[in-house]
Formats: sequence, structure tokens, C-alpha cells
Amino acid sequence: MQVHCAPPHLLAALLLLLAAATSPALAHNITRLLAGHPDFSTFNQYLSVTHLAAEINSRTTITVLAVSDAAMNDLLAEHPSNATLKNILSLHVLLDYFGSKKLHQLTDGFALAATLFQSTGSAPGSSGFVNITDLKGGKVGFAPEEGGSSDVGAYYVKSVEEVPYNISVIQISKVLPSAVAAAPAPEPTQVNVTDVMAAHGCKEFADALSNSSDAMKTYEDNVVGGLTVFCPLDDPFKAFRPKFNNLSTANRASFLEFFAVPIYMSMSMLRSNNGLTNTLATDGSRKFDFTVQNDGQDVTLKTKVNTVKITGTLLDEQPLAIYTLDKVLLPQELFEAAISPAPAPAPTPEKAAESPKAAVKHKSPPAPPTSGASDSPADSPDSTVADQTANASVRSCCGRFGFVAFSLLLVVLAL
Ligand SMILES: *[C@@H]1O[C@H](CO)[C@@H](O)[C@H](O)[C@H]1NC(C)=O
Ligand SMILES: *[C@@H]1O[C@H](CO)[C@@H](O)[C@H](O)[C@H]1NC(C)=O
Ligand SMILES: *[C@@H]1O[C@H](CO)[C@@H](O)[C@H](O)[C@H]1NC(C)=O
Ligand SMILES: *[C@@H]1O[C@H](CO)[C@@H](O)[C@H](O)[C@H]1NC(C)=O
Ligand SMILES: *[C@@H]1O[C@H](CO)[C@@H](O)[C@H](O)[C@H]1NC(C)=O
Ligand SMILES: *[C@@H]1O[C@H](CO)[C@@H](O)[C@H](O)[C@H]1NC(C)=O
Ligand SMILES: *[C@@H]1O[C@H](CO)[C@@H](O)[C@H](O)[C@H]1NC(C)=O
Ligand SMILES: *[C@@H]1O[C@H](CO)[C@@H](O)[C@H](O)[C@H]1NC(C)=O
Repeated sequence: MQVHCAPPHLLAALLLLLAAATSPALAHNITRLLAGHPDFSTFNQYLSVTHLAAEINSRTTITVLAVSDAAMNDLLAEHPSNATLKNILSLHVLLDYFGSKKLHQLTDGFALAATLFQSTGSAPGSSGFVNITDLKGGKVGFAPEEGGSSDVGAYYVKSVEEVPYNISVIQISKVLPSAVAAAPAPEPTQVNVTDVMAAHGCKEFADALSNSSDAMKTYEDNVVGGLTVFCPLDDPFKAFRPKFNNLSTANRASFLEFFAVPIYMSMSMLRSNNGLTNTLATDGSRKFDFTVQNDGQDVTLKTKVNTVKITGTLLDEQPLAIYTLDKVLLPQELFEAAISPAPAPAPTPEKAAESPKAAVKHKSPPAPPTSGASDSPADSPDSTVADQTANASVRSCCGRFGFVAFSLLLVVLAL
């Protein structure tokens, strides 16, 4: 949200209004909804184990296809890994609202529904859709749409909970038979981070990362112990590319490392754990940190230079999470905030998030997070590239003009 044109008092009022309007109360809690139905306790338990519960709670207009404990036990008897279970269960979350009434009144007798499996990018190709068919005699069939299989997988049993049009929970007769979802999913530590990003809208960033052997190594070294990556989407990163190319090789590595945090953070952890966080680039006095902050249902990342929003989840599989960003977050160590006429909005006290442990590459532990990040200036739309030869200590003591004077002095001395 860019409201940089508003006068300061209007801005403050607007922020207060926004804070009041977007209370953090979630629309629903699938764990609690299912808790009243003991026959779904295993299904419910695995929604939590696989972190799908948080994903479901963060969305509205969805339908959860629940299966009984007996059906879950058949699935668990095959000893799927947690990653595979997550794929299978995410195929049971439809990204549209189907109450029992709508199911029996499908236009043309069928509907194709996208699922969480498809939207979180775990599904290969065009798989991850469920074909719902209104069959003769009032029966409704559910089949994964993959490879022309005409097998009607499971049938509608009953409506479990309906909260129109936020969430509908319906029981189906068995787990949807999907060879694609049931294929052994790679363990998170074997996931190729750049491949996942490249395949789902962060190709530009992934390319830049692959091209920086230092940054790539830091990412790889940290996956096992926990890693959360925030990748800017292709359009914003493409536009930013000239500025990125302008950085020195070392600063390019730091810049790329700045987009990852050396701990695993699920979406619900990000929502509840606001504050300053260190990154893979944090190294002693080179802070390269940012502030995680809730904005209603959104989670934003903020530096003194700009604020960006998390727009999607590419992967959420402990110990690895990958999210997409709507813009390129700029570290204040490399970029200066444009001089903004709007003073900072009234500072709100916020506690520092738990400091992630030191990234694997570092010899010295990162500086502990400091509170008071809230004194950063208002979000400014633009930034200027700080001169690459300047470093943070020079800039923080003298500012831009001080640096220019300093450079001039050097030129004079050289003459
Ligand atoms: C549906 O979700 C919205 C927020 O997305 C919430 O304000 C509303 O109360 C929810 N409706 C019900 C019936 O829970
Ligand atoms: C949802 O409900 C469960 C059980 O009541 C609770 O443990 C959990 O914290 C709730 N989640 C959220 C996000 O409120
Ligand atoms: C699945 O995750 C749960 C909870 O995180 C854990 O206790 C369990 O050991 C995991 N199972 C496997 C097979 O990794
Ligand atoms: C869905 O399944 C029905 C019959 O089971 C079939 O007629 C229809 O073509 C399928 N729709 C799609 C989009 O595959
Ligand atoms: C990830 O895949 C790319 C090509 O798709 C490859 O160049 C790179 O070496 C892989 N990285 C790892 C860690 O395997
Ligand atoms: C890779 O990095 C080198 C310098 O380290 C640069 O010259 C080259 O243009 C980069 N290539 C890509 C595709 O980013
Ligand atoms: C690259 O840096 C030079 C000086 O360091 C600056 O004049 C130029 O505007 C920068 N280019 C971009 C695209 O930021
Ligand atoms: C930053 O500048 C200080 C003094 O000007 C110097 O000692 C330090 O090595 C510089 N750091 C970097 C990363 O260039």
C-alpha cells in the first residue's frame, strides 16, 4: 500500500483506522471446527502435523474434503512421509466454496476445482485439480483430474460444517486416489531451492542466486538447520535488475543472502512473531535485518528503505519455507531511502522477534536484534542506490552529503 502522498496527520489517522478495521481475529479455525467431530480426529491431527491447518485458516472461500479415521488409517498404513501426506491432504482442500446445496446443483453437472496442492506449487504440471461430478441419483463424485483417468474416486457422504461462504467441510467416502500426490515427495533437505523458485514465479531471483556461488553455498549450508526464503517475483526483480547488476560481487552475495532467514518460519509463526529478524547476510556490524509485521491478514517485511508484502507460499515443509514477495525488499546497508517529506507515523512499541541463530557461514554471531525498529521512516516508494564504495559506517556517520564531501576531499588530496 502506498499512501506516501497523504499529509502526515491524515496518514496517521488512516493507519489508526486500518489498525482498528483489521483486527487479527481469523475467520475460522479448522482445528477447532473439526474438534467437535471425533470421527475426524486423525484427519484433523494430520492437518496440523503438515501445517495445512494454518494454510486453511488463512484462506476463505474454501472447501475441506474430510475423511473418517478409518479412511485415514488405510492411508497411514502405507507409511507415507510427512511431505507426501501433505501433498495428499492438500489435494483435499478445494479453493472454492462448495456447500451441500451447490454440490447438488452444479452447472452442466460437474465442476473443476483448483486445490491447495495445485496452488502451493507442489503439484507437477496441470495436476492438482479435482473434478466434482453430480451423478445420477443424487450422488456426487470427486476425482483428481490427472491423465484422463475416469475413475470416480470418492463420493460425497455428508456436510460436516458450513460457514458460508468462508469454509465448508464435507465428508467424502475415502482418500482421493492420486498417483501424483501420493508419489514420494522429496524430503525438504533434498529440495532444490532454486528449482522450486524458478518453477513458480521467482526465476529471475533464482538465476541471480545460482550465479552467486557464495550466496548459493550459504543457502545450501542452512537448509538442514532451517531456512525461510522470501523471493521477489519476476516482474519486480526484472525491473530491479540494473540496480542489482550495479552491486559489487560481494554486495550481490550479501543482497541475495538478505532474502533468507536461518530458521524455519511457517506462515502462522510469521503472523504471530513480529519484530526484527536477522538474515543469512547478517554478520556482526553488517546487520542486514528487516522487520516482520502483520498488516491485517497480510504479513509485510520492512526496512528503513521500503516495505514489501508476502504474496504466496511456494513451499512450507519443515525445515524449509519459501514465500513470494510483491516487491524487492531493499536493505538499508546497500540502498538509501529517498528523502521523504512525510515524517514517520506514530511509533508503536513492538517486541523484537526471536533472533534466529547465526547463519552457518558466519564466524562471528550476528548482532542481537534491537528493539525500536519502529522508528523507521514512512514507507517510501523509491530508493536511490547508495554509492557502492561507501559502507554503512561512513553513511551512518555523515549521510549522503558527508560522503560526497568525503569523496571530494579524496579527489582534492589525489591532485
Ligand atoms: C468470514 O470471513 C471474514 C473475514 O475474511 C470474517 O470477517 C467473517 O466474520 C467470516 N464469517 C463468518 C460467518 O465467520
Ligand atoms: C485453533 O484451535 C486450536 C484448538 O482449539 C488451538 O490450539 C489453536 O491455537 C487455534 N489456532 C489459531 C490460529 O487460533
Ligand atoms: C511428522 O511430523 C511429526 C510432527 O512434526 C513428527 O512427530 C513425526 O516424526 C514426523 N514423521 C515423519 C515420518 O517424519
Ligand atoms: C469430469 O468428469 C466427468 C465425468 O466423470 C466428465 O464428463 C467431465 O468431462 C470431467 N470434466 C473435466 C473437466 O475433466
Ligand atoms: C538445482 O538445479 C539446478 C538446475 O536445475 C542445478 O544447476 C543446481 O546445481 C541444483 N542445485 C543443487 C543444490 O542440486
Ligand atoms: C553472473 O555474474 C557475473 C559476474 O559475477 C556477471 O558478469 C554475469 O552477467 C552474471 N550472469 C547472470 C545471468 O546473472
Ligand atoms: C550504478 O552506479 C553508478 C555509480 O556508482 C550510478 O551512477 C548509476 O546510476 C547506477 N545505475 C543504476 C541503474 O543504479
Ligand atoms: C568501512 O569503512 C571502514 C572505515 O572507513 C573500514 O575500516 C571498513 O573496512 C569498511 N568496511 C567495508 C566492508 O568496506
